[in-house]
Amino acid sequence: MDLRVKPMTPACGAEVFGADLAGPPAAVARSLRPLLLRHGVLVFHEQATLTPEAQIALARCFGHVTALPSGLPGHPEIARIDHGVDAPPTENVWHSDMSFLSHPPMGALLRAVVLPPVGGDTLFADMRTAWRRLPDRLKEIVRELSAEHDIAKCAPAGDRGRFAGFPPVVHPLMRTHPETGEEILFANPAYTTRVVGVPEAEGAALLNRLFRMASVPEIQCRVRWAERTVVLWDNRSLQHYAVADYLPARRIMDRVSIA
Ligand code: SIN
Repeated sequence: MDLRVKPMTPACGAEVFGADLAGPPAAVARSLRPLLLRHGVLVFHEQATLTPEAQIALARCFGHVTALPSGLPGHPEIARIDHGVDAPPTENVWHSDMSFLSHPPMGALLRAVVLPPVGGDTLFADMRTAWRRLPDRLKEIVRELSAEHDIAKCAPAGDRGRFAGFPPVVHPLMRTHPETGEEILFANPAYTTRVVGVPEAEGAALLNRLFRMASVPEIQCRVRWAERTVVLWDNRSLQHYAVADYLPARRIMDRVSIA
């Protein structure tokens, strides 16, 4: 494939032109992997031929893909994210997908299905840059600490029973990228609940300081979706935030998570 790569910001994100994501999946994944590791999120336009089968096949070339109990009928590997007036958006908080699992997904492949006339962008924040921007003294402290992640943190109060099968898990606050060796700040306001072994007030103050890092515009890029846009991101090095500014319009996306 003859690819043209246009970085979106100095920190992260690249638009990739000349890619046919419905092409032979192993070859497509081979050419995209180095770009994904470098830019963290890749945006592809005009992917009219990417069927749900091809989306799943390509995701499988990056890692393990499993069927979900709540997946699409006929394509249970696909999670449909469907928001509108009757189901208001919930992904408008900075997060790393499913950090409440002991092995969160390495990434995701997201396809636009129905878009609002305006709005519904997705913001990404590069948590490698976030780590590098921390003062050295804070890095020394954070490097030694771990934090708890719990799905119940962002579940509606009446709904928490549903998540009994997902006990809280502990991850280091600084993770090392398994493929690049880069250091990454790993704390997000959606799921990270407390710092282990630190008095509650002190831990909460530290987490708030770390959570704010994702909101710094200098480490972000913004994806403006169009029909036939597909986005691939590295969930290990980035957080994202789906902007919830489009009601009463509807927004539907199909996501394949890659373990
Ligand atoms: C997600 O949070 O995984 C979905 C992102 C989006 O809908 O833009």
